Amino acid sequence: MHTVRSPRGTTDRDPVDTGVRFAFGENWSRFLASIDDARIAEAEEALRRMLGAQNLVNRRFLDVGSGSGLPGLAARRLGAVVHSFDYDVDSVACTAELRRRYFPGDSSWTVEQGSVLDTSYMRSLGQFDVVYAWGVLHHTGDMWRALDNARIPLGPRGLLLISIYNDQGGRSVAWRQVKKIYNKLPRRMRTLYAVGLIVLLEATAALGRILTLQPQRYIRGWTCYGRGMSRWHDLVDWVGGYPFEVAKPEQILDFYRDRGLTLCRLKTCGGGLGCNEYVFEVPPRRSRKLAGPGRRAASQPTDGRGHQEQAREPGCGSDDAGSASR
Ligand SMILES: C[S@@+](CC[C@H](N)C(=O)[O-])C[C@H]1O[C@@H](n2cnc3c(N)ncnc32)[C@H](O)[C@@H]1O
Repeated sequence: MHTVRSPRGTTDRDPVDTGVRFAFGENWSRFLASIDDARIAEAEEALRRMLGAQNLVNRRFLDVGSGSGLPGLAARRLGAVVHSFDYDVDSVACTAELRRRYFPGDSSWTVEQGSVLDTSYMRSLGQFDVVYAWGVLHHTGDMWRALDNARIPLGPRGLLLISIYNDQGGRSVAWRQVKKIYNKLPRRMRTLYAVGLIVLLEATAALGRILTLQPQRYIRGWTCYGRGMSRWHDLVDWVGGYPFEVAKPEQILDFYRDRGLTLCRLKTCGGGLGCNEYVFEVPPRRSRKLAGPGRRAASQPTDGRGHQEQAREPGCGSDDAGSASR
């Protein structure tokens, strides 16, 4: 088992040691060089869109699994008081580097090492208006516990933004193997393995778009990638990102519904490869009382496909439930 040094000065046993773990932070450090004003503006725009807000002035923003630190930077530039943490020390270093570049000596942006699986750490953080855990919880080694812990720091009317790999049954099982193999290979073989797979994936995607007479959609996939991220670094993450778990949208919806959260927004990957994106909200007190564990809130969607059956709550992002394919 790993021993994780808690930022509070104590040590906690990391409850999950899968033995194999992708070096997320190393991938992020390579991405750091390509962060420029255009990417930052794109990351800000993505947050505004997801949160349905023009800015985040004086809002408390928790960046769970901060990775490169770009989402935290975007939130800080939108005016939020930001707390970023990541399990991987290299990811923490990347986030600290972005803070050094853009907000040196800033007391409204905390960066530290921590684990979302560490329940006492999550309890110690206090309350936040926004908890952002994008592409993180399925990489912890204990996704359901991570999903549960991610709601601990939600304040009243708090928003939880997550993206979780779609469960594709047998294909997801195969992908898990692909990732496991990558991480077990000698270091010098990994790049070759990743490049080989990426070329294969991209050639298939490009051919698909050409055959359906939509080559521009393939090109847009590289040039307008979204959230300020880079498709190349995400592909490397896709090949190597392990631990790796998946869930169907209805499993996530049921999980949080049973814990009293309301779905604001769902964007699926159309049942294919990739992540489903969710925004949940802590409902106002009245509906919270209705929604005890194991009971359904009267205003919650019931069809398991994320179709909203209620008026949009203030604070909920745009409810453009739809599908996004890679
Ligand atoms: C795919 S990256 C996503 C980074 C960032 N959230 C983003 O949107 O770009 C996943 C991140 O989750 C982090 N992570 C994995 N397990 C974690 C844990 N138990 N607690 C906190 N972060 C974790 C990894 O180190 C990595 O930086």
